[in-house]
Amino acid sequence: MQPANLIAIDGPAASGKSTLAEKIARKLGYFFFDTGVMYRAVTLAALKQFNQVDDERNVTLLSEKIQIDVQSPSVDDGRLMDVLVDGKDVTWEIRTPYVDRNVSKVSAYTGVRNAMTDQQRRIGARGNMVVVGRDIGTVVFPEAKQKIYLDASPEERARRRFAEVQQRGEKTTYEEILSSIKRRDAIDSTRAMAPLKPAEDAFVINSDGKTIEQVVEEVVQLLTQESKNVG
Ligand code: DC
Repeated sequence: MQPANLIAIDGPAASGKSTLAEKIARKLGYFFFDTGVMYRAVTLAALKQFNQVDDERNVTLLSEKIQIDVQSPSVDDGRLMDVLVDGKDVTWEIRTPYVDRNVSKVSAYTGVRNAMTDQQRRIGARGNMVVVGRDIGTVVFPEAKQKIYLDASPEERARRRFAEVQQRGEKTTYEEILSSIKRRDAIDSTRAMAPLKPAEDAFVINSDGKTIEQVVEEVVQLLTQESKNVG
């Protein structure tokens, strides 16, 4: 199936890809689809049902049963999209620290990834979307014509995360954040299933030392150039 008007944006944690994707979607009038919510939704459902996520078989069976959907925000409370599990709004529930602590484990289960890939393809078929994740250009929509891989050094990403965390008044050090980012990078890029890496035909952009506006400008130019070449 040829996905209609999909832009794939992948990259490591805290690279700024969600902010970038949201701005690009707004400029183009596209839907912003952050696929991290799918793994968060399965994690939430598993925690509710089993109180833990260690049983891979049961978590996988659950992920194959539930229907996850996204749609334009129905409530004006700062959300970028609605997230629904079997029709129930879980947009904020999937952002709790309880889900944060368990989602990496769930997203490494092969059966869960297969189920989520199917659901992402169902949603992506609607077209006119900027789809953000870790494996969108490589696994979920390898046929997407426009792919961006947004990178930044671990130090730059740690600086950004540290600034956010400080603003929220949480107590942690820059060094702690940096070492957790490096640990996550190592896990994400070496996992057997859908490791984090740029697709061969992706534009790789490094955002070190650039403002988000500069990155958006760079990407808009690339996409315009691309569509001229394609068309
Ligand atoms: O981007 P995020 O923090 O909301 O992502 C939640 C988790 O899901 C995180 O552990 C990375 C994982 N993820 C993934 O493996 N593949 C995707 N396409 C999107 C997210």
